[in-house]
Amino acid sequence: MIKIEWDDYLATGIDVIDMDHKILLGLINQVFDVGVEKDDAKLTLILESLADYVDEHFKREEILMQICGYKNLEEHKEKHRKITETVQGLFKIYQTNPALVNIDGFQTFLADWLPTHILNEDHGYKDTLLANRDLIEMVKDRI
Ligand SMILES: [Fe+2]
Ligand SMILES: [Fe+2]
Repeated sequence: MIKIEWDDYLATGIDVIDMDHKILLGLINQVFDVGVEKDDAKLTLILESLADYVDEHFKREEILMQICGYKNLEEHKEKHRKITETVQGLFKIYQTNPALVNIDGFQTFLADWLPTHILNEDHGYKDTLLANRDLIEMVKDRI
């Protein structure tokens, strides 16, 4: 069974972001667990939580990139938009007709997506956000 482990090489050093990434990783691992059990009702709930949390995390991350003046904000937002479309699209299909979704393929997509996005995209804003820790402190409880 696939499992993604959190490792320090994934950390951005921005607590609010690292916490979100750990939660997302936990939800993805739950998709793997339930996929093995083949319990459609349980999987629907987890996919719903995952789709919601992905959305919440992306919004939070985009606000932080914006207030810190990250130069590649628009490109990063575009990557988020594409992932949101895939995750929410698959979730909607799964809700109406679970048999249409190849859960193994979806798991492989998720296993690859999060670590790759963190390393290739999120680590790109790391220095900008770390240089603006005071701004992040001011908003982190409200975003
Ligand atoms: Fe991101
Ligand atoms: Fe992220």
